[in-house]
Amino acid sequence: QAGPLVDTFGRAVTYLRVSVTDRCDFRCVYCMAEHMTFLPKQDLLSLEELDRLCSAFVLRGVRKLRLTGGEPLVRRDVMTLFRSLSRHMETGQLEELTLTTNGSQLSRHAADLAACGVKRINVSIDTLDVAKFRAITRWGELSKVLEGVKAASAAGLKVKINAVALKDVNEHEIASMMEWAHGEGHDLSLIEVMPLGEVGEERVDQYLPLSDVRARLEERFTLTDIDYRTGGPARYAAVKETGGRIGFITPMTHNFCEGCNRVRVTCTGTLYMCLGQEDAADLRAPLRAAKDDALLQKAIDEAIFRKPKGHDFVIDRRTRQPAVSRHMSMTGG
Ligand code: GTP
Ligand code: 5AD
Ligand code: SF4
Repeated sequence: QAGPLVDTFGRAVTYLRVSVTDRCDFRCVYCMAEHMTFLPKQDLLSLEELDRLCSAFVLRGVRKLRLTGGEPLVRRDVMTLFRSLSRHMETGQLEELTLTTNGSQLSRHAADLAACGVKRINVSIDTLDVAKFRAITRWGELSKVLEGVKAASAAGLKVKINAVALKDVNEHEIASMMEWAHGEGHDLSLIEVMPLGEVGEERVDQYLPLSDVRARLEERFTLTDIDYRTGGPARYAAVKETGGRIGFITPMTHNFCEGCNRVRVTCTGTLYMCLGQEDAADLRAPLRAAKDDALLQKAIDEAIFRKPKGHDFVIDRRTRQPAVSRHMSMTGG
């Protein structure tokens, strides 16, 4: 097997998201339950296996690699993986090596990340209110995260802030968060909360369509849609008053699946072809079955062939059934 990965809808898969751990030092309410049972360490792919898996995808035309979690920076020795993956940046095969992080450990790692060729990172911050931040993450320290963001900028990393829009929680703060982010030179992406894992009453009540958020922003700011692309699902607008960019990630109200270029693999080597579907392929067995990658490549081809057309999340007030039962922390989004 060789050549690029193209699904049955003609979409090339060029973006791999790799969850390197299911663990996290926070417990964001929309991502995890308060008491989580984490995977036993022996179930995880080793760093060497993760490297082999990523490299197999790079060989097949993946140009963008994002490490996620849980929280990627809580995986022991994760910098070893970044360092070894950076060889694909040097050969030019990989265009982007990056991560999505909660920022809690970023101060320690920022300089090393930059040294591995990481240029742009995404940091999740849903509120700038210390008490609310603690409530959303269940015990996170906002000051640590802000320190991390500063360290990243100082190391030359471009930072994008991700904020999940939550009704009654941060909805009245979005304008000021945007002014802060843009003032610091960061893009801000807003995300509609998706019904994964346990969808209790809260999740249903906290759902906020981004069309409402945008309408409210437009009462004070001038937003112009722009054709800025990062390879992710966000659609961006330029904000005249701040000179910054705001992204809208709208899995609930507006489907972006027709342009989908990504798949995600969990820390146990399970490949999910779509975030909003249960279908998955085991890559760990073929990875471990042989030293060469023939079986692995075959399994990847078979999986890509099954990539579905898209997701169809619904927030059902009556049944409260999640679209998929796994927690977001399994796939890292
Ligand atoms: P950029 O490279 O900056 O565009 O990042 P990204 O948006 O691809 O990645 P990030 O990890 O910052 O994800 C932001 C949000 O988008 C998260 O809530 C992800 O779950 C969500 N997301 C990313 N890809 C998909 C997708 O294919 N489907 C859905 N439904 N959500 C996605
Ligand atoms: N819906 C939307 N976004 C989510 N994230 C985590 N869980 C959810 C959810 N249920 C976001 C995090 C992080 C990104 C990887 O996914 O806030 O920014
Ligand atoms: Fe941890 Fe990110 Fe999930 Fe929050 S959203 S619990 S920071 S993995």
